[in-house]
Amino acid sequence: MCKRRGFVYPGSEIYGGLANTWDYGPLGALVLSNIKKLWWERFVEKRDNIFPVDTGIIMNPKVWEASGHVASFTDPLVECKNCHLRFREDHLQAINTVRSKTVPFLTTTVSLDKDQKIALIESQVCKKSSDGKHKWTERKLFNLMFKTFIGPTEEKASVTYLRPETAQGMFVNFKNILNTERPELPFGIAQIGKAFRNEITPGNFIFRTLEFEQMEIEYFVRQGDWERVFEEWKKEMWKWLVDIGVKTDDNHLKWRPHEQKELSHYSKRTEDVEFNFPFGWGELYGLAYRGDYDLHNHENYLNNTQKLSGQNLKYKDPNTGEEFFPHVVEPTFGVNRTFLAILLSAYEEEDDRVVLKLNPHIAPYKVAVFPLVANKEELVKKAKEIYLVLRLKLPTAWDDRGNIGKRYYAQDEIGTPWCVTIDYQTLEDDTVTVRDRDTMKQERVEISNLKSVIDKRLGY
Ligand code: GAP
Repeated sequence: MCKRRGFVYPGSEIYGGLANTWDYGPLGALVLSNIKKLWWERFVEKRDNIFPVDTGIIMNPKVWEASGHVASFTDPLVECKNCHLRFREDHLQAINTVRSKTVPFLTTTVSLDKDQKIALIESQVCKKSSDGKHKWTERKLFNLMFKTFIGPTEEKASVTYLRPETAQGMFVNFKNILNTERPELPFGIAQIGKAFRNEITPGNFIFRTLEFEQMEIEYFVRQGDWERVFEEWKKEMWKWLVDIGVKTDDNHLKWRPHEQKELSHYSKRTEDVEFNFPFGWGELYGLAYRGDYDLHNHENYLNNTQKLSGQNLKYKDPNTGEEFFPHVVEPTFGVNRTFLAILLSAYEEEDDRVVLKLNPHIAPYKVAVFPLVANKEELVKKAKEIYLVLRLKLPTAWDDRGNIGKRYYAQDEIGTPWCVTIDYQTLEDDTVTVRDRDTMKQERVEISNLKSVIDKRLGY
């Protein structure tokens, strides 16, 4: 359905595709844009203490040294010597978090414990050696950053990376924000942008891809406040999910605190919001307490006894003059996983239709306009007039193919909340029918009121 209706296409498809890359078609691009717009309005525009930035994907490689990503943004890779399949060792060991998503070729949807998982791997893929044991290669740390080169020569001095998180663009601009905005704690820096990771186990459609988009906030607080602020952000993130139409009942959504050993190199406490995807529970968003790790490192990181930036990145209290590193609580939201969770939450198969019950603000089109029949010139002319006026004000679709039932079906499937039909009565009294996607009820509305009726339903 995603491909047929233009939500998501396989990347580079005419060349046979490229694994774990996807393109978003006309409807998908609209949904992505709506997700980002709503997030930006809510967390940036409507707040007076969160400042937006839009920073580079390519940064000075020293950033990634100081941030710890060159040394520590790695996954442990092991390979089965018999069948040469590669696994993340932490997934193999399976700690407490074994999920089928971690082994993409296993199609089971149930969560498995460590022994069950290894048994499955053995029975389906990995062959044991004659002594009845697996032969795994030594653990190799595999850096997830995509390396690239600046300039024409591929030498060490010109190496840089595609950013694996948008966060660092915010930390390295911390001083600039202090200078231009003069903010007082607590305050945040936010950005939306692409990030890139050379994942060992990508897959599950758009869940884990090589290129994806993040919406992140670095929220700076006094050290003593972080726990309270962490709890506040947990609530904010959950409320956002409710509002954009992600299912939040116990069967679909939960918070999962990270165990000590799975914490990222920068984090002292992290909790993930997990969604129950068709392939099992998986991380939708993260909320991390990064302490003063990043600012401290960007000020102090030493390479051969030399400070890489050597800049003072401390905050100066305007009242006391005290200088210190603020601590950071970081709510991070994946755009593409939001897209997936929204679609899965909204998709319903009813007796005689498929309907995407999208929040109208997320739906690609708010309204579709049709003439009742396509071969009556006066109806088509009137419908086109209404369509062209509405289109300037709201994302509006036009359809004059097939019969009216088929058009309703087609709009239900892509989640259009309201369908406006121009019929014979329209020609007499300038009214149209407005049909609601969820109740399938129709109401007659005067054309002059149409926009305000829709605005009201959108909550404006
Ligand atoms: N700055 C913190 C950070 O990057 P993360 O948990 O590694 O934290 C944040 O990533 C979010 O980005 C995740 O919660 C997820 O929504 C999304 N994400 C991470 N890796 C992804 C991938 N390979 N494909 C799609 N989305 C991904």
